[in-house]
Amino acid sequence: MKHIFQQGSNPAKPTFLMLHGTGGNENDLLAIAAHIDPEASVLSVRGNVSENGMPRFFKRLSEGVFDMEDLKVRTEELHEFIGEVAEEHGFDRSNVIAIGYSNGANIAANLLFTYSDSLKGAILHHPMVPNREADLPDLTGVPVFIAAGTNDPICPAEESTDLDKLLTSAGANTELHWEDFGHQLTMPEVEAAKAWYDKL
Ligand code: MLT
Repeated sequence: MKHIFQQGSNPAKPTFLMLHGTGGNENDLLAIAAHIDPEASVLSVRGNVSENGMPRFFKRLSEGVFDMEDLKVRTEELHEFIGEVAEEHGFDRSNVIAIGYSNGANIAANLLFTYSDSLKGAILHHPMVPNREADLPDLTGVPVFIAAGTNDPICPAEESTDLDKLLTSAGANTELHWEDFGHQLTMPEVEAAKAWYDKL
């Protein structure tokens, strides 16, 4: 997968797995990674799917309707890819925190829905429930920050509240943060994510 890897200055810090939104790329969220923790390593990945030239992490049939088979395959592909890059660059595979926006948050959520040990934690900006049929793994103690917009036309409020409930019932420690905005990734929610991360 196309990606950028930046070695952090402090090997005890996590590696941030940065996952962009539809039409974005691996450069989009680098400034957010640096803002959340400038000492962390960064693995920023470009989605392997192209929707009319717009990179995504998995196919969709229409807005908000996912191609579930592709989501499954792409989630496995991303999970394996993180392991390969960890071996190549020597970072701790068990200390990876995903930071995703929109489509990137959705595949990060599906990593959590699929594996108990793929992510040490996650910051999900404007995610949806990736799979309502999933039998979630044990996520005891996994910290997850969810940022949502009260006027988000792409992610209705129940997507955020349902995701929060599903993750909590699997044992995750979630924080659901609301902003009175739409689908855009806002500076106040990044600041809220940083305050959450600083307390981990
Ligand atoms: C998705 O397809 O993952 C969601 O609809 C969010 C987006 O627009 O990318």
